[in-house]
Amino acid sequence: MGVDYVDLLYIHQPAGNWMAGYRLLEKAYRDGKAKNIGISNFEGKYIEELQNRWEIVPQFIQVEAHPYFTQQELRRTLDEYGIRLMSWYPLGHGDTSLMNEPIFSELGEKYGKTPAQVILRWHTQMGFVVIPGSKNVDHIRDNLDILDFKLTGEEMSEIAKLDKNVRYYHRTDEQLDEFAAWKPEFETE
Ligand SMILES: NC(=O)c1ccc[n+]([C@@H]2O[C@H](COP(=O)([O-])OP(=O)(O)OC[C@H]3O[C@@H](n4cnc5c(N)ncnc54)[C@H](OP(=O)(O)O)[C@@H]3O)[C@@H](O)[C@H]2O)c1
Repeated sequence: MGVDYVDLLYIHQPAGNWMAGYRLLEKAYRDGKAKNIGISNFEGKYIEELQNRWEIVPQFIQVEAHPYFTQQELRRTLDEYGIRLMSWYPLGHGDTSLMNEPIFSELGEKYGKTPAQVILRWHTQMGFVVIPGSKNVDHIRDNLDILDFKLTGEEMSEIAKLDKNVRYYHRTDEQLDEFAAWKPEFETE
């Protein structure tokens, strides 16, 4: 990559021999090649298994999170170890029902912001790192412009009422096991 180190290196999915991969992340961290290490989509039994074996606690976990799905259960483990949550699908992957929830336009009017900006501000106040996707230059500009207002505790509690504990991206246990059993070509050779 032509750089001395990367800021964050993580495993996208518990797939294949992911523990061997995690050991290499730990090595990269010890060698100073990765300033932070992380995991993604390690929920339930996968983070429990890692928890029993990690030598270095990951600084980040990237998982689906948004006002409809706030990862309440996983956050108990994250809080215990000081792991930061990075939200994927933070705006609901373009689902208009999330963006059109009346509370976001009401708060947007109050603060002079768009509903998307209110949702992104909510993520940061939840302590989440947020990575919205956009192909629109005005949206990208807006998505960076969320640091000059603050939602009150009462407003955060109102938004919390939207939590339905429902994901956009559904995976069955069988699919997760299939991912976990997957072997890249270089491992099967
Ligand atoms: N680790 C994983 O397994 C995993 C899984 C899924 C996604 N991700 C990552 O998560 C990130 C976000 O995912 P995503 O892009 O699918 O979902 P998203 O950020 O929740 O939603 C993107 C949608 O929101 C719209 N949008 C963005 N900013 C907006 C704004 N200011 N106003 C109105 N609409 C706005 C976009 O449309 P426009 O293009 O028109 O702005 C697009 O339709 C990506 O980096 C992706 O790679 C990771």
